[in-house]
Order: sequence, then C-alpha cells, then structure tokens
Amino acid sequence: MNKTALVTGASKGIGKSITQALVKSGYQVIGTCREPDDLKENEKIPGVIYKRMDLSDEDSIKTLISELPSIDVLINNAGSSLMAPVEEISQEVIQGMFQINLFGHISMIKGVLPGMRKQKKGLIINITSFASHTPVPFSAVYASAKSAMETLSMALNNETLQFGVRVVAVAPVFVSTNIYQQKICNVDSDYYPSFKTVSDLRDASIDDGVSPHLIADQVMKIIQTDNPKVFYAVGKNAGLLHLASKILPGGFLLKNIRKKFKIS
Ligand SMILES: NC(=O)c1ccc[n+]([C@@H]2O[C@H](COP(=O)([O-])OP(=O)(O)OC[C@H]3O[C@@H](n4cnc5c(N)ncnc54)[C@H](OP(=O)(O)O)[C@@H]3O)[C@@H](O)[C@H]2O)c1
Repeated sequence: MNKTALVTGASKGIGKSITQALVKSGYQVIGTCREPDDLKENEKIPGVIYKRMDLSDEDSIKTLISELPSIDVLINNAGSSLMAPVEEISQEVIQGMFQINLFGHISMIKGVLPGMRKQKKGLIINITSFASHTPVPFSAVYASAKSAMETLSMALNNETLQFGVRVVAVAPVFVSTNIYQQKICNVDSDYYPSFKTVSDLRDASIDDGVSPHLIADQVMKIIQTDNPKVFYAVGKNAGLLHLASKILPGGFLLKNIRKKFKIS
C-alpha cells in the first residue's frame, strides 16, 4: 500500500517541490494551504488531496487533523517571514509570528503523533531556517521562532523514538521563492535607513537563493534513509556556514553578518 505524507504549505515554493517529489516517489500526498478552493487546476499537482489549514487558526488545524487518515510522514513546512526592528513590533504581531512558525507546527505534530505511535512508525520533518544560526538583521522574531522549532525537533526525539517516531529539522539557507515577508518599519523610524538596506539585500539573497527542488531532494534523501540525522542545513555554502556558526565566536559571526548586510 502507498505510504501517506502530509505536507503543510503545499501550494507553492518549497512545499510544492516536496509534494512533487513525494508524488513522484509513489506517496499519497495530502497537501495543505489556506485557500485550496482558490488553487487553479494548473497550480495543483495531479493526485494530491488539497485540504484547508491556516496555521494562525487552531480550529482549522483541529478540523484538518480530524479528517486525516494515518500519516507516515509529516512535513511541517508552511510559514511566512517577518522583517522588523524588535522595538517596533507589537506583541500581537510577535505572537502571530510564533503561532505561524512554532505553535501551529506543534499542534500539527500533536495531531499526527497518536496515529504514528499506534503504527509504531513515523517521520516528522520540520522545515526551519538557517536564520536561527546566522540571523539576518531585523529578523530576530522570525529567527527565534524557527530556532525554537529546531530545538523542539531535536528534543522531541527523546520522547518519540521509543515509539518508532523520528523528528528531523531541515534548515534552508536562502531559497528562491516568493515567501511572504511582513515588513514593519516606519519611514521616519531611526531604524529605517539600515532597515531599508538590509531588507533590499535580504530580498536579493532570496532571489539569488537555491531552487526549492534542492530542499525537496534533501527531504527525499532523509525519507529514504534508515537513520537520518536530527538536523540538516541546505542551500548555498550550507555545510561551511553550519561549521562556521558552530566554531566561530558569536561576536565575530554577528560582525560578519552585519558586514554582509551593510549595517554598522
Ligand atoms: N525561502 C527561503 O529563503 C526560506 C529560507 C529558510 C526557511 N524557509 C522556510 O521554508 C518554508 C516554506 O517557505 P517558502 O519559501 O516555500 O514560502 P512560500 O513560497 O511563500 O510558501 C509558503 C507556503 O506556506 C503556506 N502558508 C503561508 N502562510 C500560512 C499560514 N498562515 N497558514 C498555513 N499555510 C500558510 C502557503 O500557502 P498559501 O499562501 O496558499 O496559504 C505556501 O504553500 C517556510 O516555513 C519558511 O519559513 C524559507
């Protein structure tokens, strides 16, 4: 029987590439997005069952979970980004970012775990971000939500491996997608000049990023490996960047990040 994978954020970008790769490998895929009824036929991948799920709406997560068959692989991929000086972000927006990039993903995990434990097998892959290791200026809130997700991924293995359920974090560097980035910074803010420079450079880095298919290839390798690692960094110079983030002093790393993004 075909295995079943659930991919959140399957309508575009990285999630769509992962969905395509899973279908090609013979998986039955359930893909989510916020408005599946608005997807045009040529935007859909044949064979995929599209379901509604909005990470900022816990009821939509509950409804999705209640309609699911048993899931072999969950790809927690959906998400969006935020660029803003921390000082100028309302608590409401910060909580919203954590809902989309952390709490909603935890609800998804809690939803599939009972079934995975019952079948004594399961794989959860959380798409985090390398921003947690080398945070772009003004991405502190986004990066910290992704960082928490990465720690949760690793820590969860301690609870679930006894039931045959494995959890892996995949942290892309820059990927060429149209990822939604909420940008908050008033033109008359003291932060605005550096914010504008960083924001433009970050957009250019995303445009110049790797293809989402590269992330999908890594995800498929993880799925096909018996004993995957708990963390993978993927993208341009990912291996080198990961090593540098592990061994270089934090202050030196930040200095280089500020230099790259032309902020003093
Ligand atoms: N692109 C990069 O450079 C990069 C780097 C590191 C990490 N990432 C991470 O990779 C993941 C995928 O990003 P991407 O670049 O592929 O972005 P994308 O092209 O914008 O795709 C995002 C997907 O998530 C869905 N989505 C967005 N907000 C949602 C919400 N509130 N509730 C439910 N679904 C939602 C979107 O579906 P609808 O809009 O159709 O609902 C879409 O399918 C994200 O978690 C992102 O943080 C991306």
